[in-house]
Amino acid sequence: MKGVILAGGKGTRLYPLTKATNKHLLPVGREPMVFHPIRQMVGAGIDDILVVTSVDHMGEMVNCLGSGVDLGCSLTYKVQDGALGIANALSLAEGFAAKGPICVILGDNIFQRSIAPIAASFRGQDKGARVVLKSVHDPERYGVAALDEQHIIEIEEKPKAPKTSFAVVGLYFYDDQVFDIIRGIVPSARGEYEITSVNNEYIARHQLRYDVYDGEWTDAGTFESLQEANRLLHATSNEIAP
Ligand code: G1P
Repeated sequence: MKGVILAGGKGTRLYPLTKATNKHLLPVGREPMVFHPIRQMVGAGIDDILVVTSVDHMGEMVNCLGSGVDLGCSLTYKVQDGALGIANALSLAEGFAAKGPICVILGDNIFQRSIAPIAASFRGQDKGARVVLKSVHDPERYGVAALDEQHIIEIEEKPKAPKTSFAVVGLYFYDDQVFDIIRGIVPSARGEYEITSVNNEYIARHQLRYDVYDGEWTDAGTFESLQEANRLLHATSNEIAP
């Protein structure tokens, strides 16, 4: 399985920290933020990784990560023009994926514990996709899953009145249907190709499985959540617990 790290966007919620650099290069604990999703993938046996970022900071991203050899992986880079959403950024990975399964991490998501067991569950799945849920106190900031006893029935992106407290975190596993699915979705009201639309199509195909994450998790896209990300990784000197 190959990996895709989505590290684009303008990071406007962190302005002016992101005036001269990319959000994913900001320090979290002792390392640049983007090291974390790479270390998570390598720890899950995924060492062929595509990094997608915007043209503005591609040079700094390559300066920071190089070939990937220091992190135990091989890195490929692609530029996302514009800010048309996560699914649009993911569409750039089609050639890289070469019809194989992929693990996708949003570059500002920090996971206290290893994602390796979740990757193993997906490897045991014959087809479809896998997402990861975490109960949070502010679900309206995220994609929110409505569940019955066994399945996700629906995911709503940033709902004003969330039906549950289960955020869909920025870690996704997809089979090779994902790129055709992206071609079939339409932009949301905010003008973006949403990853939630992709996941809802897998639900419609009865092919979306999920895990509930049992470690601490945060994104790092706001000042508050960046502080939480620093707390998590500072406590472990950026080591990832099993
Ligand atoms: C994105 C996704 C959302 C997901 C979140 C996780 O939101 O659209 O579904 O729950 O990442 O970090 P963003 O933070 O990019 O607005």
